[in-house]
Amino acid sequence: MSYNVAVVGATGAVGSEMLQILYETGFPVDEVHAVASGRSVGREVAFGDEVRLTVQDLDGFDFEDIHIALFSAGGEISAKYAPRAAAAGCVVIDNSSHFRMEPDVPLVVPEVNPEALEGFRARNIIANPNCSTIQMVMALKPLHDLARVRRVVVATYQSVSGAGQRAMDELFDQTKGIYMNEKPQPEVFPKQIAFNVIPQIDRFLEDGATREEWKMRVETRKILDEGIEVVASCVRVPVFVGHAEAVHVEFEEPITVEQAREALAEFDGVLLVDRPEAGEYVTPVECVGEYAVFVSRLREDPTVPHGLAMWVVADNLRKGAALNAVQIAQTLVEEGYL
Ligand code: A2P
Repeated sequence: MSYNVAVVGATGAVGSEMLQILYETGFPVDEVHAVASGRSVGREVAFGDEVRLTVQDLDGFDFEDIHIALFSAGGEISAKYAPRAAAAGCVVIDNSSHFRMEPDVPLVVPEVNPEALEGFRARNIIANPNCSTIQMVMALKPLHDLARVRRVVVATYQSVSGAGQRAMDELFDQTKGIYMNEKPQPEVFPKQIAFNVIPQIDRFLEDGATREEWKMRVETRKILDEGIEVVASCVRVPVFVGHAEAVHVEFEEPITVEQAREALAEFDGVLLVDRPEAGEYVTPVECVGEYAVFVSRLREDPTVPHGLAMWVVADNLRKGAALNAVQIAQTLVEEGYL
């Protein structure tokens, strides 16, 4: 059987990766539709090396004959159009944060909690987690199974592509402009992003944390275990693609570096690259285009009873967004849900 798939937000940073990954992974498509705003109607986007798709307008797009819709056009667009697509019988896999914390919407990383998919028919909507959450829970899951994670302290180093195409353009233009003596004019980001780092992703909440930091906490709990405490500091860095995280984990039970190494090395979707003395650790530019979540610099944290520290890197447009969404679709097919 093959499926009619629509990508909503097909002209964007994540949407174009969704098309690319559908193609690369050989997802069994019959028709593929590229959908975006009225501004892009008639534009062409690539589906693989040979096929060009003409962009269609989301307003008026008919989801009736679509089996799967991958949404990545922002929360407001998902709020308005995803329920409409779902009501037409189409399964929506939504990359925005809009539905993630709704109890009857599964929030899924297929290697970590595929069982959560079970209830998806309640709404016909499945949420793709936040990019920073996905790569962290991928590294935590095999360790949680071994020794139960109690608390996580994480600092992120997040690339600009997480904020979309305009954000990538802003980093490029500001960087070029600074060499020409131009004064940076922040528009997408709250402050200058070129040659700088910004400790604000999304808006501030009443407790002083940002919404991105809140997302890492509540999403990790929903996906992995409601008992886990997470405190995050999320930072935007002048990198185009690839998120990095310094993750410090406290466990309920004893766990050695050697046990953690083995469990990570065996876990599907994680690649342990960890011989720092030989220069073997992964940085964001080295993970671009890759599917894996890379773990490096795994070591003991001697300041707590059962503690480990590690460095986790992934392509935020791929495993952090488009790849995870396509893997959810693949899981639905493999498990016979579609
Ligand atoms: P468009 O290019 O037509 O504006 P990014 O995350 O890279 O910023 O991309 C956002 C994606 O969401 C783009 O594909 C964009 O399409 C799409 N989008 C934004 N607003 C709308 C809208 N009102 N209707 C449909 N798609 C939208």
